[in-house]
Amino acid sequence: MGTPLGRGTVDRLLEATVVGSFSRLGPLVRQHSNDWSDVTSMVGRTVLVTGATSGLGRAAAARFLQLGANVVAVGRNESALEELRREGGEQLLAWRFDLSDLDDVDRLAHQAKHLNRLDVILHNAGALLGSYTTTPQGLETTFAVHVLAPYAMTRVLGRSDAARERRVIFMTSGGMYTQRFDLATLEATREGYRGTTAYARAKRAQVVLVAALQDREPVGGRRFYAVHPGWAATPGVASSLPAFNVLTRPLLRTPDQGADGAVWLAATDPAPVGGGLWLDREQRPVHRTKKTVTADPKADGASLVSYLDARLAELGF
Ligand SMILES: NC(=O)c1ccc[n+]([C@@H]2O[C@H](COP(=O)([O-])OP(=O)(O)OC[C@H]3O[C@@H](n4cnc5c(N)ncnc54)[C@H](OP(=O)(O)O)[C@@H]3O)[C@@H](O)[C@H]2O)c1
Repeated sequence: MGTPLGRGTVDRLLEATVVGSFSRLGPLVRQHSNDWSDVTSMVGRTVLVTGATSGLGRAAAARFLQLGANVVAVGRNESALEELRREGGEQLLAWRFDLSDLDDVDRLAHQAKHLNRLDVILHNAGALLGSYTTTPQGLETTFAVHVLAPYAMTRVLGRSDAARERRVIFMTSGGMYTQRFDLATLEATREGYRGTTAYARAKRAQVVLVAALQDREPVGGRRFYAVHPGWAATPGVASSLPAFNVLTRPLLRTPDQGADGAVWLAATDPAPVGGGLWLDREQRPVHRTKKTVTADPKADGASLVSYLDARLAELGF
């Protein structure tokens, strides 16, 4: 009899194939090969989830409630927020904020600052937009929601002492593997706009930002993570990628499977090392092809943070 394949080998074989890793096969195989024991209790902790009204954010919020955490659910859809209030009872606050509007981001961050306790933020809100749109401040929406809003919140909350040990998790996308980080193209323009490209560039920027934020954090400070959910069947995927949704339907993860990696990063003790990209409870490479590798990732991160600070200053934030 041959030697059974070890944990690392099975996982690496699966990770080598996009379909195997990103589809529902990923968690189905890894939960056995990598011996996933369930995540620990979160009683007494508070988690803020953006985009909690639908899809992955909704699944994550439900899981946090099951684990005993208090949840602050953020979204725009008032009837979904009302449903969440009914489901979550005393464990849940549901706040309506539009993350494409920097004034709302400012109000949200300051409201969050006054929570008695805030342990984890899951920056999950996002969308792949079919056409070029701008925010009340005149920014391209994909960049504003995925990159600038979470950075602005991180900046405001970083000055708060509400947290004990805070984990900040960005829900990125495997789509970012198609794009090289380039500040010059991060904010898409109306001319030649392609939603998938703008989305993948913003998601790549989230990964660069997570590494940069971790680099700047003092030892013992916050932990920053990027996590991608693979491909999951959500209302967002059905509306933004209808053909992909139909063609890949049997392969798509459930929202719970897509949200699992983020929930695990939020809950597991001790907190895993920060600054990297995760999928299915393991840290993953940030490039799948040489085409996206840049000369100096640390310089990319530093220039991204300076750029975001400059954009926020221009906008009086
Ligand atoms: N599903 C996948 O396979 C997949 C793959 C890769 C990455 N992702 C990422 O996972 C995250 C969740 O996606 P999903 O598939 O669960 O999509 P979804 O079902 O469309 O949910 C998106 C959530 O984001 C919120 N949102 C969007 N724009 C917002 C804004 N301007 N202000 C406040 N909230 C906003 C929505 O809130 P309202 O409905 O209340 O407006 C909704 O709760 C996104 O960041 C997405 O890019 C998903």
